Parts: sequence; C-alpha cells; structure tokens
Amino acid sequence: MKPLIAGNWKMNGLKASLNEIEALGPAPAACDVLICPPATLIAAMAPAAARFGIATGGQDCHPDPSGAHTGDISAEMLKDAGARFVIVGHSERRADHGESDALVRAKAEAGLRAGLVPIVCVGETEIQRERGEAEAVVGGQLEGSLPKGDGFVIAYEPVWAIGAGRTPTLDDIAAMHAFIRKRTNERIRILYGGSVKPSNAKEILALPDVNGALVGGASLKAADFSAIIAAA
Ligand code: PGA
Repeated sequence: MKPLIAGNWKMNGLKASLNEIEALGPAPAACDVLICPPATLIAAMAPAAARFGIATGGQDCHPDPSGAHTGDISAEMLKDAGARFVIVGHSERRADHGESDALVRAKAEAGLRAGLVPIVCVGETEIQRERGEAEAVVGGQLEGSLPKGDGFVIAYEPVWAIGAGRTPTLDDIAAMHAFIRKRTNERIRILYGGSVKPSNAKEILALPDVNGALVGGASLKAADFSAIIAAA
C-alpha cells in the first residue's frame, strides 16, 4: 500500500507559511503527501501544493452541508476550497470540543458525501493505557466513529504521545495497528501519529500495518517534514 504522509498544521500558519510548500518541493512518486493547514489557508495552498503533487486537507468539518452554524465549515466548503482530505475526530477536537464518537462518524460521513477522504483519528489517553484499556478504548472509538465503506483513512494517535516528544514502543505501535487492521480491511490505510519526527520516522514507518504518518509539530518546517517524507 502506498504510504500517506500527512501534515497537520493545527492552529498554526499565516500566508507567509505557504513558502513551506516551495521549500518542500515535489512529492516523491513512492508516497502520497498531504498538508492540512488552518482553513484560512486551504484555498491559497491547494493550487500551490497541487503543482508539487501535494494534496491539501481540512482539519475538521461540520456534519451538515450548509445552514445556521456560525463559525463552522462544511465538508462541501472544504472541497470547494480545494481540499481532498479532512481530518475528523482528532483528540484535540474530542477533548476541546467534547466531540462524541457519533459526531465524529457524522463528520466522516459528511466528508465522504462531499467527495473528500476522511482521516478518522482514534487513540487512548495515558491513564487508559496504564490501566490496560488501550485496545478497548480504541476498539470502541472504531466501532463508534468509522463510516461505512472503505474510502477513508484511520489515524492511530495515542493522546499521550501527541506533542509530547515521546512515542509508544515499536512493539506497542505494531500491536495496536494489528488490532486495528483486524477490525477493518486490507484497503484501509492506518497512519500512526504522535511525536513522529525525522529521527523516528523510518523505524515507525517500517512496521507492519503502518501505512503512513499523521505529523503535527514536525510538519511545520519543510526540512523536518521532507526528512519524514524521505523516510517513507
Ligand atoms: P505531533 O502531533 O506530531 O505534534 O505529536 C500529531 C497530531 O496531533 O496529529
């Protein structure tokens, strides 16, 4: 399966940050590259990134196509702005905005309806892992938040590894990806996310059933993101 290296810029980036695209240069044929900038940059980024074979995505969407939802953005709007993917159910959305599995599934279905590829995020907290509940938690999130069909991507992101500079052991990542694979099918890409950086990308991306990475902090600087793409 062709790996997908996805950058999640979160709430970072102004117009000047589009220079990072020039610095990245063309995506290699061996992997798909995606950047999810803040929504304000999607329309400007999409054509610039497309010239390098890099896709653009949103970081969230509303389940409805339009309506009275002040401040929200629909999947159709993301698509219209040039997005091809949309991240849904990121742990920061689940935590900061109280997003339930059912809402995450509705957002993923909205992405599919609009012709986007949803990236559905799942992952346990540190306390859940310490209690031995990681698989039960991730299993429940998969059960509750995946849409039907197979036009989506799953990102396993242990909450305690995000922005933390630490990752699970390679064995733990492989075990969770095998667990997720058993609950999905062979056509679904399963990304790992949480403190992926140039120094650990190669060993993580070499694990079975790791079909790419969702990269936060290290996607903001072209030098780091390029090194991760090269590792794939
Ligand atoms: P990080 O974030 O790479 O900065 O840990 C990953 C994510 O939240 O998608």
